[in-house]
Amino acid sequence: MEQNEKRKVVFSGIQPSGNITLGNYIGALRNFSSFPDADCLYCVVDLHTLTVRQNPAELRKRTTSLAALYVACGLDPEENIIYCQSHVPAHAELAWILNCFTYMGELNRMTQFKDKSAKHADNINAGLFTYPVLMASDILLYQTDIVPVGVDQKQHVEICRDIAQRFNGIYGDVFTIPEPYIRKASAKIMSLTEPTRKMSKSDPEDTFIALLDKPEDIRRKIKRAVTDSDGEIRYDPENKPGVSNLLTILAALKNQTPEEAAAVLSGLGYGALKEAVTDAVITEFTPIQQRYNEILADKEGLNAMLRRNAEKADYLARKTLRKVYKKVGLFQL
Ligand code: TYM
Repeated sequence: MEQNEKRKVVFSGIQPSGNITLGNYIGALRNFSSFPDADCLYCVVDLHTLTVRQNPAELRKRTTSLAALYVACGLDPEENIIYCQSHVPAHAELAWILNCFTYMGELNRMTQFKDKSAKHADNINAGLFTYPVLMASDILLYQTDIVPVGVDQKQHVEICRDIAQRFNGIYGDVFTIPEPYIRKASAKIMSLTEPTRKMSKSDPEDTFIALLDKPEDIRRKIKRAVTDSDGEIRYDPENKPGVSNLLTILAALKNQTPEEAAAVLSGLGYGALKEAVTDAVITEFTPIQQRYNEILADKEGLNAMLRRNAEKADYLARKTLRKVYKKVGLFQL
């Protein structure tokens, strides 16, 4: 990189809306440490969770838990800005402005809105509809270049780009146009019990492995994972979704391709595949869980870290927000 070239900015977020899953880990969290030369912000996006009813005490607990998990997964809070979305008011403030630059028709096309409306038919609130605008604000506030996410968030990053381009088209170069960073091979981890559906933290317990699951739970869940009856270990997502999902998990954790992982196990039975996946997951998660417990034991240290980093994020976010307010014509004192 040229000496005076601007450092890249990386931003991503995870909702503290349930147990963080193996899907979140492989699709997003473990990729967060892939940008040593960038300025990285990793946000616990608590405001987004309110689009679905939350238990307040649980939400508070899961928010600090997720912040601790970020650190436990290897993100140094002195090198990365790890903070909580609601601690930086500029997210909600920019979201209002960008709401006025986003069309109903665009939001209507969002597949996550359609899925969530079907799932929560008794609570199709306006927040659920404008969710992508808040996400666009998260990203655009920091002049983000790169957004590491799983493939289910690609559409949201695309609408963010559209909103930014529209705004820039009217007011000049206000926002950096971000790019999604999606690792193709591991972008979508599937449910263990219904391997044609995405593994999701809002689904029932036995469909996912949680980052904080005990080894015996991990073993039991993988043992029960749905496979098929032809008995051959082969990567073929269309015809063998269960086996292919297990191979994807194994390959991601061993930094192989799914085909390489299949070749190592060729000729063996599904029992051996499940054993290998179980070992890989437990080996990966055990040290993270140990660090997590240490971090959580020091509540004050964790809170102080979150406060410090929210101040850093706030400073950066305000810079963009001031520019936006000025451009749209809001009177500033
Ligand atoms: P969330 O909380 O649903 O998921 C967090 C991250 O995990 C990825 N992911 C998966 N990847 C692979 N396989 C899966 N089964 C799987 N399930 C989830 C998601 O793609 C995501 O990267 N809207 C976002 C949160 C958000 C955000 C942002 C992300 C809010 N603002 C700004 C990036 C930038 C969400 O609900 O993610």
